[in-house]
Amino acid sequence: MIRNIIDVKLSHKTYPIYIEKGLLNSIGKEISKIFSGKKIAIVTDENVNRYYGDKVIDSLKNEGFSVKKIVLKPGESSKSFETLTYVYDELLDFPITRGDLIIALGGGVIGDLTGFAASTILRGVPFVQIPTSLLAEVDSSIGGKVAVDVAKGKNLVGSFYHPEAVFIDIEVLGTLDKKYLHDGLSEVIKYGAIKDSKLFEALLNFKDDAELLQNIGDIIYTCCDIKREVVEKDEKEKGDRMLLNFGHTIGHAIEKYYNFEKYSHGEAVAIGMYTITLKSEQLGITEKGSSEKLKQLLIKYELPYELPEIPKESLLEAIALDKKNNGDRMNIILIKKIGDSFIKNIPNTEMENYM
Ligand SMILES: NC(=O)c1ccc[n+]([C@@H]2O[C@H](COP(=O)([O-])OP(=O)(O)OC[C@H]3O[C@@H](n4cnc5c(N)ncnc54)[C@H](O)[C@@H]3O)[C@@H](O)[C@H]2O)c1
Repeated sequence: MIRNIIDVKLSHKTYPIYIEKGLLNSIGKEISKIFSGKKIAIVTDENVNRYYGDKVIDSLKNEGFSVKKIVLKPGESSKSFETLTYVYDELLDFPITRGDLIIALGGGVIGDLTGFAASTILRGVPFVQIPTSLLAEVDSSIGGKVAVDVAKGKNLVGSFYHPEAVFIDIEVLGTLDKKYLHDGLSEVIKYGAIKDSKLFEALLNFKDDAELLQNIGDIIYTCCDIKREVVEKDEKEKGDRMLLNFGHTIGHAIEKYYNFEKYSHGEAVAIGMYTITLKSEQLGITEKGSSEKLKQLLIKYELPYELPEIPKESLLEAIALDKKNNGDRMNIILIKKIGDSFIKNIPNTEMENYM
């Protein structure tokens, strides 16, 4: 695969997304093209460190950078204030300055936490994203949303802070657990459902995971480009960016109901996409057969689709607490058909018709 480049053009800044097989082998050289300073702090987790920590550090050292590595425990629990404080301490011990660079090397947890640390320490230090999970490569590393979780919910403290660049090496997906590969695919299916029927059909037609992985470079490119377009039009999620929340309203409520223990984000979003589409189809809003197609695709990639037996009131309660709601009305995302989505503003009381 040759290198693909997507430029994200925002009103205040433009940054590149590089997508290439084996990109990590020359990451030192790549970083030296965009960063003229000397010191770099890398934040990663234990799993990713085991596979790629040395490779990245050696490559950076070869280019003469002075590097500090901060390794965190894997998993959502690291997206906490406690870990954030630890990261601040480590960065200040380095000591990091505004002229230095921070690298997030890992999945969405590392990207979100490191981005938030970078956006707040010394009132902002430049950072770079090297996403290593499928979810991070197609979604969380692009668009500038960075955050940590608090006791009252996920991602409730955060900011919009864009990286200097995003480096996507598709080869690293080879070590990603199948569970996380399929988890990330839920967001890929979402892009297909809301914006790209060709992508959706391609996913349906792949024989198996092996064929999917053979095509993953093109899939990641397509997803990143959809996200770029949406974010460029609506950086702060006041309009079209909300389309990316397809399946997320119900999905977040499911995750929250089970205390983030039973369903992963991708699994909960999968159920959310199917549930809302089944209802909107019954309400005559969505083309007939769309929910069945979604179901087929979710089954194919071993994702759940059926709403578990949760009391409706509990789900509605969780939805009411979602930060995306506005007073007594809310926005939900529906599809007219596969590849064509829209935002519908409804009174909160109507939400129960869509689940
Ligand atoms: N900022 C955004 O716009 C945005 C969008 C969607 C999701 N998110 C956030 O992303 C997070 C979930 O991200 P995630 O699913 O990547 O979780 P994660 O970061 O926990 O990664 C999943 C697991 O895969 C491991 N891993 C990652 N890359 C690997 C590789 N190449 N080889 C082997 N193991 C690897 C990690 O160690 C971890 O155990 C959530 O916190 C969610 O809120 C943010």
